[in-house]
Amino acid sequence: MRILILGGTQFLGRATARLAVEQGHEVTCAARGVSGVVPAGARFVPVDRDDPQALAPLADAGFDAVIDVTRQISHARHALAALADHVGHWSFVSTISVYADNTTPGQSVADAPVLPAAPADVDGPVGPDHRWYGECKVSIEELVRERMGVDRSFICRPGLIVGAEDPSDRFPYWVRRLSAGGEVLAPGAPTDRVQFVDVADLAGWLLHAAGTRLGGTYDGIGPAMTRADLLAGVAAGLDLAEPALTWVDQEFLISHDVREWSGERALPLWVRLPEYGGLMDRDTRPSLHAGLAVRPLPDTVRATASWMAAHPAAVRQGGLDPADEAVVLGEWQAVRDR
Ligand SMILES: NC(=O)c1ccc[n+]([C@@H]2O[C@H](COP(=O)([O-])OP(=O)(O)OC[C@H]3O[C@@H](n4cnc5c(N)ncnc54)[C@H](OP(=O)(O)O)[C@@H]3O)[C@@H](O)[C@H]2O)c1
Repeated sequence: MRILILGGTQFLGRATARLAVEQGHEVTCAARGVSGVVPAGARFVPVDRDDPQALAPLADAGFDAVIDVTRQISHARHALAALADHVGHWSFVSTISVYADNTTPGQSVADAPVLPAAPADVDGPVGPDHRWYGECKVSIEELVRERMGVDRSFICRPGLIVGAEDPSDRFPYWVRRLSAGGEVLAPGAPTDRVQFVDVADLAGWLLHAAGTRLGGTYDGIGPAMTRADLLAGVAAGLDLAEPALTWVDQEFLISHDVREWSGERALPLWVRLPEYGGLMDRDTRPSLHAGLAVRPLPDTVRATASWMAAHPAAVRQGGLDPADEAVVLGEWQAVRDR
């Protein structure tokens, strides 16, 4: 295939471009080149999509498929205006942040309500909390379906994407933490559900969708597992003996200012329940049925760990600091001994 990736300079776009090259496709990546470089073997076309005409010169390049990762509504609109009539298939990487209900476990694409589209004066996510992110993705999904038709568009809604070149502090936190050894603060309960997708599996599925002209809307996420299985899988991928986990109640963590999901003082892949009980417990059967192949967790851990070892400066440091973790564990122990 001749594939155009709108992006390709970081994480998912880059992993998709790399795999497409490995699979023998002819790959073009259009981006500014601000976030990084495209993988070896892919052609880089420098464009700034803030310019509405930026992609027009690519219209007659004979692409079979486009894969777009944008969050900006105008970027999607202009890309579709320039290219939709000239390509056979369009994949849009959306997000599970389009869903309106984060509480109910077991939802699937077919029955889950989505947010409204973004207001007319919003073009992209705003501010450090990425306000309107989900709504912008809803708007772009609508544009893609409208312009390409449902049968020629693959709308893929990933949950947490993990693996090599992860720019976030989420999955790498657990790889780093279990590697460090000692008593590990495990948040919540062992049976809490967690869910994510390996970046390479997602890349593989995007290429499979383009190659088979898969149409429709799907979640891009692997099957949910328990947090105990997550931590055991991370340990297995690192060839560690069983980690010394101390499970600490959610309410205790919240009252000691341990934060959820990401950032300073956060324990990643942990969200409060029942409020966010649906966030990492979605029904993935339709996606697996439609070709998403999920590798064993230890393989994801090995890929993440070797990237972290090879590129320490690129790994975002975040999460609960070891000294703060020790303080919280000490206070938890004191409460339990009382
Ligand atoms: N990470 C997660 O856990 C997660 C979860 C759910 C969904 N998602 C979705 O998954 C996708 C991840 O994509 P990604 O990893 O490739 O990263 P990304 O952050 O979405 O990358 C954006 C790409 O667009 C390019 N770009 C940005 N502004 C541009 C402009 N003005 N003109 C031209 N190109 C521009 C960037 O390249 P340059 O800066 O070099 O131009 C980069 O390659 C996104 O759609 C995200 O919403 C992610």
